[in-house]
Amino acid sequence: MSSLSTPDIITATEADLAAFDALFAHSSAIGTTANGGLHRLAASAEDGAMRDAFCAWLGERGFEVRVDAVGNVFGLVTFNPSAPYVLCGSHLDSQPNAGRFDGTYGVLAGAVAVASVTRQLRERGETPAFNLAVVNWTNEEGARFQPSLIGSSTFMGSLSVAEACSSRDAAGITLGDALAQIGYRGEAMLDVPVAAYLELHVEQGSQLENQGLAIGVVRHTWAALKWRVRFDGEQNHTGPAPMAVRRDALLAAAHAIVAVKAEAELHGLHMHSSVGRLEVEPNSPNVVPALARLLVEFRSPSTPLLAAAGERFRATLADIAARTGTTFEIEHAQLREPSHLHHGLSELAHATCAELALPCGDSVTVAGHDAISLSRRYPTSLLFVPSQGGLSHNEAEFTATADLHRGVRLLTALLYRACCQPGRYLGGATS
Ligand code: GLV
Ligand code: MN
Ligand code: MN
Repeated sequence: MSSLSTPDIITATEADLAAFDALFAHSSAIGTTANGGLHRLAASAEDGAMRDAFCAWLGERGFEVRVDAVGNVFGLVTFNPSAPYVLCGSHLDSQPNAGRFDGTYGVLAGAVAVASVTRQLRERGETPAFNLAVVNWTNEEGARFQPSLIGSSTFMGSLSVAEACSSRDAAGITLGDALAQIGYRGEAMLDVPVAAYLELHVEQGSQLENQGLAIGVVRHTWAALKWRVRFDGEQNHTGPAPMAVRRDALLAAAHAIVAVKAEAELHGLHMHSSVGRLEVEPNSPNVVPALARLLVEFRSPSTPLLAAAGERFRATLADIAARTGTTFEIEHAQLREPSHLHHGLSELAHATCAELALPCGDSVTVAGHDAISLSRRYPTSLLFVPSQGGLSHNEAEFTATADLHRGVRLLTALLYRACCQPGRYLGGATS
């Protein structure tokens, strides 16, 4: 039971928020771009430098730092070796020429919040039911290595260590070798028992800003269908080769790109689609392309709708191939099912926002997050703070410091509740 001298909520202090600001500024200087963004691809030298800074920060504050076989970095605070951990975090890798906030915010806020709760628990002489930990998941973005969410998927067992480590970047370097190069390829996966997972992230949308809300409590996530498609044509001279005999793989890809957009238009607000990467061989101005490879994405709240879109698109690819004299192959297909975040944690987040006077509402995420991986098995909460103009994966991505601080305060209070008052979200008596 709480008493008057030990209130049943704690949150980040001004000193904690100043520590967050310093850590965030340090991060923003590692992989910074000319326009004030961030270019910190997974397992790059910049990612290595940021990991070093993160581990040093944790080590100075008494966290036990451990690295697993796919480079996930855990900062553990263990009160009771037989208890599971309330884990929080996100990712320190970025997209190319991207923003400073995506992922990094959740890791650094998590580190500061765990340190704050730990310190305040010790000051109060309070022993939590669960331990605390922060994590940096490897290669959330899927920019340099595919698929996305590699670290969290491997932790959850839906991807093997061998699959993860053998993923190759555009230069043919494997993730395993890149991690070894920066000193973050651990020997084995770690058994970190998880009681709950909390992830704080910038919204990457404009709902919170438009509605004047400080916090979005994500209730569910969209599904995603990701295909790698290859067209094979015939290499030829762009000058003399008669138009009628050309088998142009890039022309086929161009038709496919238009078809990807057309598919989304059939479903109004219920589907987003894109082709984000195109590889062309030999990619010479006066050679009819022999090969074109496209990375295609369809996202929707509805898995049946995605399945139907996939079937229609497959037929469209066959039609395009016939019209262009090419052949096509779906080299890789991945369906990420939608997920629902934990009801009890979401309710606790709403109640805690009310106590901290943070206006909040329910949110949905279309973007991918490591929380989606964790939510398949563990009570998971994903919390958003506003993104200015909803802009993300862009150097100009921005969230005001006051908004970042509101999220840190909420995360600190929620971590406290999740480790000391698990009955409030897992059911049963409030401890
Ligand atoms: C990552 O940012 C994704 O949404 O796939
Ligand atoms: Mn992210
Ligand atoms: Mn991202």
